[in-house]
Amino acid sequence: MKLADYKTTLSFTNGQPSLEMPVYNGSIGPDVIDIRKLYSQTGMFTYDPGFLSTASCQSTITFIDGDKGELLYRGYPIEQLATNCDFMETCHLLLYGELPNARDKHDFTQTVMHHTMVHEQMQFFLRGFRRDAHPMAVLTGLVGALSAFYHDSTDINNPEHREVAAIRLIAKMPTLVAMAYKYGVGQPFLYPQNNLSYAGNFLRMMFGTPCEEYKVNPVLERAIDRIFTLHADHEQNASTSTVRLCGSSGTNPFAAISAGVACLWGPAHGGANEACLYMLENIQANGGIAKVGEFMEQVKDKNSNVKLMGFGHRVYKNYDPRAKLMQETCNEVLKELGLGNDPLFKLAKALEKIALEDDYFVSRKLYPNVDFYSGIVQRAIGIPVNLFTGIFALARTVGWVAQLNEMISDPEYKIGRPRQMFTGSVKRDVPPMNKR
Ligand code: ACO
Repeated sequence: MKLADYKTTLSFTNGQPSLEMPVYNGSIGPDVIDIRKLYSQTGMFTYDPGFLSTASCQSTITFIDGDKGELLYRGYPIEQLATNCDFMETCHLLLYGELPNARDKHDFTQTVMHHTMVHEQMQFFLRGFRRDAHPMAVLTGLVGALSAFYHDSTDINNPEHREVAAIRLIAKMPTLVAMAYKYGVGQPFLYPQNNLSYAGNFLRMMFGTPCEEYKVNPVLERAIDRIFTLHADHEQNASTSTVRLCGSSGTNPFAAISAGVACLWGPAHGGANEACLYMLENIQANGGIAKVGEFMEQVKDKNSNVKLMGFGHRVYKNYDPRAKLMQETCNEVLKELGLGNDPLFKLAKALEKIALEDDYFVSRKLYPNVDFYSGIVQRAIGIPVNLFTGIFALARTVGWVAQLNEMISDPEYKIGRPRQMFTGSVKRDVPPMNKR
């Protein structure tokens, strides 16, 4: 860590001497107070469940300005990346810090596409799951199992192993997600076709069959590519922090990423796109747009436990920039597929309009997040609702890997080991059985 940019003083009302602590400026964003010596100098911990005021690491990858609604990957605004670059360029940027030139892009894409097949034995492992298993349950298992199949790239302290594991994970995730889908619907797995784009290959493995030639629709290919780009990284969110914490013990990259997949599954995180689409379908089934007002009253009733899924975010207190881009893609895909009058899209827009004008949402700074529209796009493409979070996991893999590798290369990294404020019983003796 660099020298302090300035200092702050912590004073106590219990007579304990005050303490000077270093403060550092980031390149953008809030300054951070370095409290690492707090415990050794005062015997005290800080208390911050949910990490509301805690920076868990230093990072150069992704920056979010939640008040402005700004998202930067390595300094580049998400709007420019989603419009001018594709997912392979974004992966190169996140992993290596710079956008590739034409030659680097070609080489990187070739390297990734060269690793798209999975070990043939993996399909037998997959066949052990119930056919009706949730794809996220299957994916958590499959990604964890990669360490059994690719044991030659599991040493997290070896830079070559880390590089090979990174490429393998990015390359094989589409194959695994498509296999999980095909297994559920009872169709044969399709081997990857490496002359297609990353997104095009995924679409073919999902929707092609061995009986017919599959023609990739360029509008859908671009939409899937954009979904991947928009979900590629999001600084220290719950699943990324899980990957970092898991990896901090020195475990292998496949194990750490499978921990991220498991965390992403939750409805407060990646599972929100699935929950959002079920919410829209439910409103539609119970009267549609005419019932939107009634539904919103339930959302605002604290006793109802109903939330407007796809709304609100821990960091964004403004419109999530990814939601705007997703809405744009939603328009394009629905038009291409002749679904311009899609009732769920109309419903989502009606809910958004009411929410953006309602004091409950305005006063709490609740805006649509990326999941509000991504489900409608995916459903239109033909992706089943229970696979939405799997697509998110596929896209986020590059971010997880980049963050994990950044942590391992950081000379200041240590095993993550939070402390606690203990509020349980003080020391006591075990009473004999007849006195309990
Ligand atoms: N619907 C209704 N009320 C909400 C919503 C919502 N979607 N989100 C937050 N609120 C309310 C809370 O009830 C709370 O109200 P209160 O101050 O009266 O108690 C206030 O807004 C603040 O919300 P918190 O839950 O404290 O905010 P937090 O930062 O902890 O949670 C979260 C953020 C989990 C994303 C939350 O907004 C939520 O559950 N949203 C719906 C799920 C969702 O869309 N998740 C996707 C996140 S993005 C992603 O992972 C890709």
